[in-house]
Amino acid sequence: MTSGVVRTAYSARAAEYISLFDSISSTHPVDRELVLSWARGLSGKVIDAGCGPGQWTAFLHSGGVAIQGVDLVPEFIETAKQNCREAQFAVGSIEQLPTPDHSLAGILAWYSLIHTPPAGISQVLDEFSRCLKPGGSLLIGFFDGPAGESFPHAVTPAYFWSVEEMSARLQDAGFAVIGTHSRADPGVRPHAAIIAQRLITPSRVG
Ligand SMILES: C[S@@+](CC[C@H](N)C(=O)[O-])C[C@H]1O[C@@H](n2cnc3c(N)ncnc32)[C@H](O)[C@@H]1O
Repeated sequence: MTSGVVRTAYSARAAEYISLFDSISSTHPVDRELVLSWARGLSGKVIDAGCGPGQWTAFLHSGGVAIQGVDLVPEFIETAKQNCREAQFAVGSIEQLPTPDHSLAGILAWYSLIHTPPAGISQVLDEFSRCLKPGGSLLIGFFDGPAGESFPHAVTPAYFWSVEEMSARLQDAGFAVIGTHSRADPGVRPHAAIIAQRLITPSRVG
């Protein structure tokens, strides 16, 4: 239900979103450095979960990373395929990624959990845990703020997370938090990112 609302909202504004964000130059240089160095440290396939128009997927592909982009919105996947013909892309949901159990070295979830209602976040983290190899790595980017508080994002309502609360949810889903990053630039919502490693024997999921 929520996924349907998110898909419809992004589809309706897809052309506008693509014109603003389909180039990696729209991203912060510090984030590019973080995401690239994270991905280059992985060995195996990575999924860009909620890839939008695929700017991060293309960037990491050109950096030598074996990556597939997955997003709910067909217009984004079509644009992503045109912009980066060599990388793999698929229409799909972060709640049910198109990948076997324990097959991935990494998952990038860059601002793609922001529309998931707080009550649904653990289900998505469990799905990421299912997909990652033991020792695999997850990198999440999100808006830093009071955990679970909704705000009127330009496309469809979104939710803040605090580093502390997201870290707690990650630990519940079988991850160890490896590193956190926060930034508050003038005129934009505060940003945070967390790198977390899937434990060999997660407590809640197998
Ligand atoms: C704020 S955009 C971020 C897109 C891209 N990661 C970026 O950094 O520009 C949020 C993206 O998450 C996707 N998304 C949200 N919920 C999703 C879900 N349940 N499954 C797949 N994609 C989802 C949306 O379609 C949208 O492309």
